[in-house]
Amino acid sequence: MIISSPTDYRRAAQKRLPPFLFHYIDGGAYREQTLKRNEADLADIALKQCVLRNMSSLDLSTRVFGEKLALPIALAPVGLTGMYARRGEVQAAKAAENKGIPFTMSTVSVCPIEEVAPEIKRPMWFQLYVLRDRGFMKNVLERAKASGVKTLVFTVDMPVPGARYRDKHSGMSGPFAASRRVLQAMTHPRWAFDVGVFGKPHDLGNISAYRGEPTKLEDYIGWLGANFDPSISWKDLEWIREFWDGPMIIKGILNEQDARDALSFGAEGIVVSNHGGRQLDGVLSTARALPAIANAVKDKLSIFVDSGIRNGLDVVRMIALGADCTLLGRSFIYALAADGQRGVENLLDLYKQEMHVAMTLCGAKSIRDLSLGSLDSQP
Ligand code: FNR
Ligand code: LAC
Repeated sequence: MIISSPTDYRRAAQKRLPPFLFHYIDGGAYREQTLKRNEADLADIALKQCVLRNMSSLDLSTRVFGEKLALPIALAPVGLTGMYARRGEVQAAKAAENKGIPFTMSTVSVCPIEEVAPEIKRPMWFQLYVLRDRGFMKNVLERAKASGVKTLVFTVDMPVPGARYRDKHSGMSGPFAASRRVLQAMTHPRWAFDVGVFGKPHDLGNISAYRGEPTKLEDYIGWLGANFDPSISWKDLEWIREFWDGPMIIKGILNEQDARDALSFGAEGIVVSNHGGRQLDGVLSTARALPAIANAVKDKLSIFVDSGIRNGLDVVRMIALGADCTLLGRSFIYALAADGQRGVENLLDLYKQEMHVAMTLCGAKSIRDLSLGSLDSQP
């Protein structure tokens, strides 16, 4: 398949992956309205063209927490990444390092921290979920620290997993799921060999390393429901704040009050996120939620944003709306599923080229030059 734009990777991933995995990645909660709006609202924002400003040298880099990023992009934490490509977390982390941006490892990754960390020099970021077993949280934070992780992304918008109706239809969960998945693997032989046979163990590596036995993935969705903790509140986060001496980013903020609370809690950053429309369907798209949040906490916290970003223009739009940096979720996962590390590297090159053209024609010589003034319309 010819890849000429970042969005081409979605179709390429669909061809390669068994449907239960493709739809787990691609789908969202309930009627998927927020999922659709994330993309549509962002695409609707008009950039303001300004010409003849000598744009021969542009700087697309930025700094967060003293770390230099070649682009205002980091790879978002995505569970089960090692199921989409062979030892997928390692491949994604290497791609991110080669392109000068951070990779964030999910709590529910296939490869454990100890497998990925030695493969890269740039410290990865680590994402933490609140599990009922607090012993695990302490253990995984200690292991992350020992592996050189400085930046902790703490996801707070999943006290319970959202209902993703596609998962039952696809065989990710529901009746006869295990046998349906075997049948799907048989009809997707490239994936079956690359990941099914040679990408083992298929496991939640971080959790198994703590428990000393395989976590197994037969009922992953059931496992999420049984192990995530709905009783969580700001108070429960205090010991983590005390324990973690590096930057902490709270992921899953959608309104100004929660952003202010994250600031009073002592976080260094927030991710304005609706989890890619995978949690509460019907909430605002992040393009709509971002400007008010930026207005409330800009320059007091580093503001990250994700959900619906599909190309370099979307990155420019989000920065103009007030973000300091963006996270890519599905966009990089499609590229990883389609073509592994090489796919993610090519994807990031495409983002860079698109950002370059957009910034040249918006008259922005650096990331700092992008502001609401770079837009002709807001969502
Ligand atoms: C996610 N996301 C996620 N977030 C997180 O904090 N920990 C996780 O383990 C996961 N797992 C996960 C799996 C899959 C398949 C997807 C698609 C997403 C959410 C992710 O970090 C990010 O917030 C969204 O993907 C952003 O939306 P877009 O860019 O995918 O539209
Ligand atoms: C998801 C979880 C794992 O979105 O974050 O599926």
